Parts: sequence; C-alpha cells; structure tokens
Amino acid sequence: SSPLKLGVAGLGTVGASLVRLLGENGEAYERRSGRPIAVAAVAARDRAKDRGIDLGAFQWFDDPVELAAKAEIDVFVELVGGAEGAALESVKAALNRGLPVVTANKALLAHHGVALAKLAARKNTVIAFEAAVAGGIPIIKTLREALRGNMVSRVYGILNGTCNYMLTRMEREKLSFEACLAEAQRLGYAEADPTFDIGGFDAAHKLTILTSLAFGSEIDLESVFIEGIERISAEDIEAAAELGFRIKLLAVAQRTESGIEQRVHPAMIPASSALAQVDGVTNAVAVDTDLLGSILLAGPGAGGNATASAVLSDVLDVATGARIPTFGVAPTGLVPYRRARMRAHEGGYYIRLT
Ligand code: NDP
Ligand code: HSE
Repeated sequence: SSPLKLGVAGLGTVGASLVRLLGENGEAYERRSGRPIAVAAVAARDRAKDRGIDLGAFQWFDDPVELAAKAEIDVFVELVGGAEGAALESVKAALNRGLPVVTANKALLAHHGVALAKLAARKNTVIAFEAAVAGGIPIIKTLREALRGNMVSRVYGILNGTCNYMLTRMEREKLSFEACLAEAQRLGYAEADPTFDIGGFDAAHKLTILTSLAFGSEIDLESVFIEGIERISAEDIEAAAELGFRIKLLAVAQRTESGIEQRVHPAMIPASSALAQVDGVTNAVAVDTDLLGSILLAGPGAGGNATASAVLSDVLDVATGARIPTFGVAPTGLVPYRRARMRAHEGGYYIRLT
C-alpha cells in the first residue's frame, strides 16, 4: 500500500531521534502498521548543522509553517517547541489542511490545546500527543483508553525529568544546582529555555493535560499553583534526608470537596515510598481510581529515544487509522489551589504528599 508521508518540523533532540529510528526500523514499522512510513519533508533553522542523520532524501524547509502548509505529506509532526510562533502557526496550518498532527509540545497544548482540538474536530482530523507528558511513559493512552471504566480521584507524580535528574544528582553526588542543570541540558533533557523546567512550568503544562484526560475537564493552566525547584538547596535535601524524606518536584491533580485542584511544587516525601525511589531522568505517574486503588507507571521521562518512542506510537496509530480521541472539553470542576493549605510550606516546610 501507499506510504504514509511524514513532514517532521524540528530536528533537535526528539526530531533527529525520530528520523533516525524511522530509518533504522522502517521495515518493522511497516509490518506493524501495514504500510511504509516515510519522512518526506523536514524543517529546522540551520541547514548546515550535523544532526547525525542523512537528510539528503527529504525536502528541506526553513520554516515549519511553510512545510505544514505546502509540503506533500499525510501527517505533520511538530517537534519545534514553544507555545506560540512557528509551533502554533504550523500546527494550525496543518490542521486547516485536514492533516493529522502528532506533537510532543505540552506548552502548546497547555495554552492552546482546547482551541486546537476544536479546530481538529472541525477539520475532521486529529491531534495526537502521547509524547507531550512524561516522555516515554504511555500515560496518555493509559488514561484515555485503559482506565476508561474508572473514576479517577487523583493523578500525580514526577513529570519533569530535568528537575528529577538535578535533585537526584544534587543529593547523591553533592553537585551544585548549576552543574546539574548544565548536565541535564547537555543530555537533551531540558527545554530550550530551562526556566520552564526548574520553574515548574513544564510540569504544570503536562499536569493540565493529565487533568483534562483524568477528569474530562478543559485544559486550564491559569488555575494551577506553580512553584519550581529554584530555591531548593543542598542543605534542604540533606535536612530532608536526615528526617527520612526525599525532595521531589510533584505535580498533583485531585478531586476535592470544592473542585479539582492542580498544583506543582517541591514536596518532602517519605524515603521509603515508591515515588521517592524514582531517580534521575525517570518520571512516574500515579493514578488513584475507584476500581484499582492506585497504580504507578514509571519510565524515562525525557531524551530523544524515550520521547521518539511515544511519537512513533502516535504515528503508527495514524498509519493504522486508529481512533485518536482528544482531551476533555467541558469547562467543569476546576478550582484554583487554595493557598491556605500551603501555609506550612511558606513557613519553610514542604508539605507532604499524603
Ligand atoms: P530542540 O530544541 O532540541 O529542537 C528544536 C528543533 O526545532 C531544532 O531542530 C530547531 O532547529 C527547530 N526550530 C526551533 N524553532 C524553529 C523555527 N522558528 N523555525 C524552524 N525550526 C525551528 O527541542 P527538543 O527536540 O528537545 O524538543 C522538541 C519538542 O519536544 C518540544 O516541544 C519539547 O518540549 C518536546 N519534548 C522534548 C523532550 C526532550 O526530552 N527533549 C521530551 C518530551 C517532549 P535547529 O536545530 O536548526 O536549531
Ligand atoms: N524538559 C522536559 C523534562 C522534557 O525535563 O521533563 C520532557 O518533557
């Protein structure tokens, strides 16, 4: 059958891994999806950059929007990043053409997810985003498909690989905050602007997507309480350890008496708990439900191959014509986190998870 032609915008950590994997494993993906999957066009800023992949066979675009609007493709894969600009405009251009979009861009979805999902529905196409939350962990499909019969009361976990990597190395090797951040950037874990990681915004972006899927509510970044790890020092980590706790950047969405609350902040959690054992770039997502009690999914939360794994799953879904539902779009239930509960935290103590 005819090949599924991909337009891949963004050839950085994730895009370059995706293109390489499609080259290396093409035959297996064809067997699994029933049709060849071929990169037809790519876009990035610097044509001369060595990305460790051969781009000779692909149509080159400097502008992702032009690729999305004009290239002869069947699917648009957005791996550019950023909530506005080229990412937003290219995704809109692709959806306006009725093309399915696959994206890893949680910032884009946190800010424009509802509008983009509505545009996709109007154009009778889809926007798929397994890679947007927790890298390689298949949490989108888990919430949307496997847990469909459950009532979720809470979804929470470690959603930023950069912060978890930094906190782990600060604790284990007594490295400085700055050295750990530089290493996370070198390894391709951090966002182009790492303020999004250490400020808690990236975890908040991801949390809004999980909240929407878990509770059927609209994506809403405004109501998320956000605090990052910038003020966590080696002394804090050491003091927590002496008390039998580890410090993790947690993202929590839970149903409360007043509504669904969303928060991201560093928390002291008992060292013996499963979440406290989640180290390095690993992410973990726990889901509490009526039928299951609690389940925990853990795995690589950032990096080229881990993220490409999730992108590939969406691409293969499109290739096989799988149904790809989107987020909840009902403006229900979300309430701002009540700061009163953070009083102990503001006084210098971190609240515990439970
Ligand atoms: P990178 O910064 O490594 O790569 C971004 C790519 O986009 C680069 O190839 C860059 O071109 C290109 N690009 C950026 N702006 C433009 C523009 N205006 N016009 C043309 N090309 C542009 O990002 P990542 O691969 O790390 O991340 C991509 C997306 O995936 C982001 O949304 C990120 O949040 C998400 N993500 C990343 C993960 C990770 O572990 N890195 C994990 C999960 C999601 P050039 O190379 O020429 O500069
Ligand atoms: N910067 C992100 C992180 C990439 O460190 O978790 C994965 O979404």
